[in-house]
Amino acid sequence: MEKTNQILDISEEKTFILNPYKKSKDFTKSPFRYPGGKFYALKHIIPFLSVIPHDEYREPFLGGGSVFFAKKKAKFNWINDLESKIIEVYKGFSNEKISKKLIAIFDNEIASRDRHKEVKNLIPSNNIEDIFQTFYLNRTSYSGIINSPAWGYKEGKSSPPKNWGNFIRNVFDKLQDIKITSLDFEEIIISPPIGKTILLYLDPPYFHADQRRAYTKPFKLNDHIRLSKVLKNTNYFFCLSYDDVEEVRNLYSWANIYQRKWLYNTANKKNQKRNLGNELIITNYKVSQFENGRLFNF
Ligand SMILES: C[S@@+](CC[C@H](N)C(=O)[O-])C[C@H]1O[C@@H](n2cnc3c(N)ncnc32)[C@H](O)[C@@H]1O
Repeated sequence: MEKTNQILDISEEKTFILNPYKKSKDFTKSPFRYPGGKFYALKHIIPFLSVIPHDEYREPFLGGGSVFFAKKKAKFNWINDLESKIIEVYKGFSNEKISKKLIAIFDNEIASRDRHKEVKNLIPSNNIEDIFQTFYLNRTSYSGIINSPAWGYKEGKSSPPKNWGNFIRNVFDKLQDIKITSLDFEEIIISPPIGKTILLYLDPPYFHADQRRAYTKPFKLNDHIRLSKVLKNTNYFFCLSYDDVEEVRNLYSWANIYQRKWLYNTANKKNQKRNLGNELIITNYKVSQFENGRLFNF
């Protein structure tokens, strides 16, 4: 792989001291409800990213983008997800004309079981209809799952269509002047640098995923192995989140592994509550943290 001219070099073996999570000034919320979304994990993940001063940020498994929208925007940004339907929505939301049209449409929309069925059966004839369909189904389907979506909107609990326009307005600035693609993750990791210090945040589908059916693209054992191999070879800084299982610990025995617990949305239909999961944050840089006035090495 091409050597970079990174100011901070991963080979330096420096230990970075984590600061507690602080909301960034440009914090925004994801417009999506997303299976495997990391909203409840922000306080754990963001400190691992803020500790690396970077001018280029890449997120190959963007999904709902909870982390990208929450973190401070870097000078150069590349967001990606193999799910092209989601990526088309982001592209539409980043475009002034298209986003205005969508806001006007959602301002006059309703959420009902019949309308959900109608939208599900719609055959889009243009880009706006395509984006409309994906976003409507995401907001009104069980767990935000757009892969064979099932009605999952709860009156009084789910966010009504009149709020969706604001979700679009809120992400408009963050989506300006960034690279948005729908490619396999590997290309994003191995591409040559634009900035001087590159940071990757990666959130692949879980190894033991009850969310597997949530995505249209399968992520198989071979993909998990492939990811571990490309990350072993990268000289960019990376931070990876995964479920805490033996297979993942084995795949990353060469990296730094930190244990955390956070809430996640289950994709089990009978059990729609949030569960507390054992999670891992894996990096190719070392961190430590002050606890009760003492420096704590994990
Ligand atoms: C756990 S989700 C990401 C959730 C996201 N961090 C959030 O907060 O909403 C994993 C994502 O990986 C995407 N994906 C699956 N296989 C992929 C591949 N080969 N390359 C890139 N993205 C892929 C899925 O479409 C899914 O959106």
